[in-house]
Amino acid sequence: MSGRERDSEKWWKTGVVYQIYPMSFMDGNGDGVGDLKGIVSKLDYLNDGTGTSLGIDAIWLSPIYPSPNKDFGYDISDYRGIDPRYGSLEDFKTLLREAHDRNIRIVMDLVINHTSNEHPWFIEACKGRENPYHDWYMWHEGKKGKAPNNWFAAFDRKAWWWVEDVRKFYLSTWCRYQPEVNWRNPELKQAMFDMMRFWLDLGVDGYRIDVINWFIKDDRFRSNPYRLSLNPPDYQRHIYDRNRPEIHDLCREIRGVVDAYPGRFALGEVFTDSAEEAASYYGDGDELHMAFNFEFLFQKWGASNFLGVIDKWDGLLGDKGWPTYTLSNHDLPGRHYSRYAKGDETDKRARVAAAMLLTLRGTPFLYYGEEIGMSNRKIPRKTIQDPMGKKFWPILKGRDPGRTPMQWNASSHAGFSTTEPWLPVHPNHTVVNAEKEAGDPGSILSFYREMIWLRKKTPALCQGSYRPLVSGRTDYLAYLRSNPEQTVLVLLNFVGKPVPALLSGHQTEVSRGNWEVLFGTDRAKGNRMELSSGLSLRGYEVLILEEKGGSA
Ligand code: NOJ
Repeated sequence: MSGRERDSEKWWKTGVVYQIYPMSFMDGNGDGVGDLKGIVSKLDYLNDGTGTSLGIDAIWLSPIYPSPNKDFGYDISDYRGIDPRYGSLEDFKTLLREAHDRNIRIVMDLVINHTSNEHPWFIEACKGRENPYHDWYMWHEGKKGKAPNNWFAAFDRKAWWWVEDVRKFYLSTWCRYQPEVNWRNPELKQAMFDMMRFWLDLGVDGYRIDVINWFIKDDRFRSNPYRLSLNPPDYQRHIYDRNRPEIHDLCREIRGVVDAYPGRFALGEVFTDSAEEAASYYGDGDELHMAFNFEFLFQKWGASNFLGVIDKWDGLLGDKGWPTYTLSNHDLPGRHYSRYAKGDETDKRARVAAAMLLTLRGTPFLYYGEEIGMSNRKIPRKTIQDPMGKKFWPILKGRDPGRTPMQWNASSHAGFSTTEPWLPVHPNHTVVNAEKEAGDPGSILSFYREMIWLRKKTPALCQGSYRPLVSGRTDYLAYLRSNPEQTVLVLLNFVGKPVPALLSGHQTEVSRGNWEVLFGTDRAKGNRMELSSGLSLRGYEVLILEEKGGSA
């Protein structure tokens, strides 16, 4: 990658990011667990510079640091190392180099709301109140031998844990193995910032920051008010343990650390279902470069459901922030392919969803395997690996169904490993796999490739403005993406039957010029079309048109 390309401010706005769950992507050493060598061996699949590869621009790696794996890497015991199960620091440098040679950036997961309870900082902190590391964590003496407040832990329910040696409770609002650090301590803050610089100096291209909105807690440790909810973690309004006002100063500082390295980004996982809260982490363009908005993940199928999310998100960010969009990640028990399944229409829905994700104004985040249409795999209760499902919420099945090994081919372990993988492969890997789909122009993989490469060479799709042309329709979406040189019209039919695209008040506007098919599931590329009399979209049709001057 040339220096200029590398430092380009815009790459994360125009690029497509691909999340790899490292344990499940590719096993390079035959131990049943994915690793860095495995990822390197698949870089050409991700982007070899030609349209026969997927064409993604960056990989976001879920955590690869040493960890006791109580929460599969989201409990870190050494911030400057690589977990031996994934390889060594040398292997990581090789990955960086090989990825950069292919113009693929590497984004690390930054889990700095909590450490592992086996992190040397925490071990020291538990030794005594005078220990220099003691104040690096969140402690409280409690009230009459009980926890100081009603805060609640997402996995463990109980948030406060007694340590006899210091006669205090430590705080953990995930699970007991994830003690929370004290961001008000200046030494802790510097240690975290130095660690961030360590990886930036090595050449990483950005950070996805875990649960940024949980970092700062109320300095008076006040209890949260209760509320009615069917979802236990929502029994409380988290006004004192999340999203505290002081977090925004910290975000500005984090931004300063990252901005000292041109062309890198900080993306916040704002762990909430509120788009408003997520938007607040952009500040006035001086906090995080981007934040996740998870609203897509909770939408039922239907054009108007998605449109509601898009319009709200786009409106909230305006010109001050660059949107992100994602349909699946490692945290949901379900991949969106399964979420939107409908018999033999499922593949078509997956294509429509992908077309939407890849044509909106904002950076698309893909989750490994969605490009081949991977679906949830039922995990027998006895073999559940996710501690959330196994230990803390036995009633739930955990997040394993969406974390199964990547399906590379039809062989017994799906080409992921030469041995039994850590999670079972989906039995459908004999038909749903990258090798088979690569040679099939009608496959979901071919569709993703085509869409990603189209996006790359279509400036209006990368950076143009977004303008919806219809609203309130459950059956189809129509929106314009335009920049000064180009106008592109995206039409997506969310139902299996033909739909007249009326384009309501915009009929005159879109009927002015004539349009050329850039991409169509049902129409030939390059065809010219006039829209003066509207247009009938076929069932689940995806149609992307570019405005051309003159008449057809
Ligand atoms: C959010 C991460 O995405 C999730 O996987 C993890 O369990 C929690 N944060 C705790 O780090």
